[in-house]
Amino acid sequence: MRTIDWVDGAIELVDQTRLPGDCVFLRIETVADLIGAIRRLAVRGAPALGVAGAMGVALAARTGEPIDALRAARPTAVNLAWGVDEAARHLPDADAVLARALEIRDDDIAACYRMSALGADLVRELTEGPDRSDASGASGGSGGFRRIRVMTICNTGGLAAVERGTALGVVQTLHERGLLAETLALETRPLLQGARLTAWELGRMGAPHRLVVDGVGPYLLARGAADVVLIGADRIAANGDTANKIGSYSLALGARRAGVPFVVVAPETTIDPAITSGDRIEIEDRGPGEVLSIHGVRLAPEGTGAANPAFDVTPHDLITAIVTDRRVIRVDRGETPYESGTA
Ligand code: MRU
Repeated sequence: MRTIDWVDGAIELVDQTRLPGDCVFLRIETVADLIGAIRRLAVRGAPALGVAGAMGVALAARTGEPIDALRAARPTAVNLAWGVDEAARHLPDADAVLARALEIRDDDIAACYRMSALGADLVRELTEGPDRSDASGASGGSGGFRRIRVMTICNTGGLAAVERGTALGVVQTLHERGLLAETLALETRPLLQGARLTAWELGRMGAPHRLVVDGVGPYLLARGAADVVLIGADRIAANGDTANKIGSYSLALGARRAGVPFVVVAPETTIDPAITSGDRIEIEDRGPGEVLSIHGVRLAPEGTGAANPAFDVTPHDLITAIVTDRRVIRVDRGETPYESGTA
């Protein structure tokens, strides 16, 4: 299944607001409708937003709509603006714009498979040692090789890309190689991408998993319940500072304290060479409504205020490695996205 694609002159995408109850596809024929879908997170996740941005320009080339608002529909994931800019270079040639958008789609699929393999190799290397998976009660023994317990946040699977995904793609590869003991998925308030989307994807791949509340992450790491933390990224600064779903920073702090490797998995397109450090990354504020209510049911008393930054920034000194589709950047050895290669 492709999360987003170009079908008969329009965009078709899975409406992620309806999962896990219903898996329905939306057909999007205008830039205005695409902006609405992006803002309400019907399509989300940095790589998928890059493809959506490029395909949105293909729509604009046909409808004549402006693309500025599309480029700015969500500010943190650099992939959205990148996808728009890449496709817009070919305007007004509608065929050339579409060809570039389809190329971005295909590149994203290939990148996700490469990251999954590179990331699984790295995780195996970082977690060498005796199998501890029985200690958590998660598995029934490893038969001599080490099976790995992963902790992750938000949704970084195929739903966040076109197929396969980033950090959850690594989990899938570990599972396919018989190396996965369990995934601990944080539920990821306020919009519950972990509970709704990651648990759904792990179930579909038949991978063992348990859902945990967001606040328990550092405690479970301190108790030795995971061998590695794997996250995706929305924007990576040139020095390796990484913006990702709110709660990632807490996990990084907990992982450092517990001596657990903390690995970011993202395509090269998520690295923003124009941003030198994480404090310059714009963090989307989604307003109080999502915190004060769930599915329209109010949680807090009338008059309660709320803060709702959708992302945080993990400083590079808390990151073990960044895995892209082209390389492994050993941040713990002083490498940065820039100094270790082309970004
Ligand atoms: O608000 P979302 O659901 O778009 O946030 C998504 C994330 O934070 C993901 O971890 C990130 O985009 C990487 S997706 C492979």
